[in-house]
Amino acid sequence: MSDSSQKPILRDATYADLPEINDIYNHAVLNTAATYDEVPQTLQERLHWYEYHLANGYPVVVVTDSRNRVLGWGSLSAFHPMPGYRNTVENSIYISERAQGKGFGKMILHKLIECAKEKGYHAMIALIDSENTISVHMHDNAGFSEVGRLKEVGWKQGAWRDVVYMELLLQRHD
Ligand SMILES: CC(C)(COP(=O)(O)OP(=O)(O)OC[C@H]1O[C@@H](n2cnc3c(N)ncnc32)[C@H](O)[C@@H]1OP(=O)(O)O)[C@@H](O)C(=O)NCCC(=O)NCCS
Repeated sequence: MSDSSQKPILRDATYADLPEINDIYNHAVLNTAATYDEVPQTLQERLHWYEYHLANGYPVVVVTDSRNRVLGWGSLSAFHPMPGYRNTVENSIYISERAQGKGFGKMILHKLIECAKEKGYHAMIALIDSENTISVHMHDNAGFSEVGRLKEVGWKQGAWRDVVYMELLLQRHD
């Protein structure tokens, strides 16, 4: 018989999750080109990031296992600081290496889309390293389309990186 207490839980992040959220992100900083950050974030920086999200109503969600360990997280943030962009959000998703490929990224992306729709945002954007085919595929499956590709705008792991812009329109008026 399956034990429902073993099921992963998707919930809003709390202050207690911040060290694990930060560790998952910093692993990607140091080992991948999924983010072009090069220096690991401090816990203090992560705290400011979290409080910025809380203060501005941007969701931060986590998937946890049965022992309340964070398997992955996702967030919405401002796409651009100019006020005319206020109806557009950018999403971020990072899954711990040990939990990748088990459907958690997809689960978080669907939750973020739901949150963005509930909050009345018009468009959702993901900026993805062009070689991150898993992320491109995941966004494509969730209804995002490639709307732009910037050539050699990033430098990570000793190479120029292309960035794919993927967009989902949330409120259609046509
Ligand atoms: C990219 C990432 C968010 C995807 O999350 P995930 O939990 O690993 O992926 P999921 O298990 O939800 O799978 C999403 C899709 O990718 C496919 N996929 C996942 N891992 C795969 C792999 N290793 N090879 C091929 N396809 C894979 C899944 O089959 C699924 O497609 P489907 O819906 O057609 O079956 C996650 O791997 C990650 O955090 N990577 C490092 C950081 C990163 O790249 N963040 C995104 C920055 S834009």
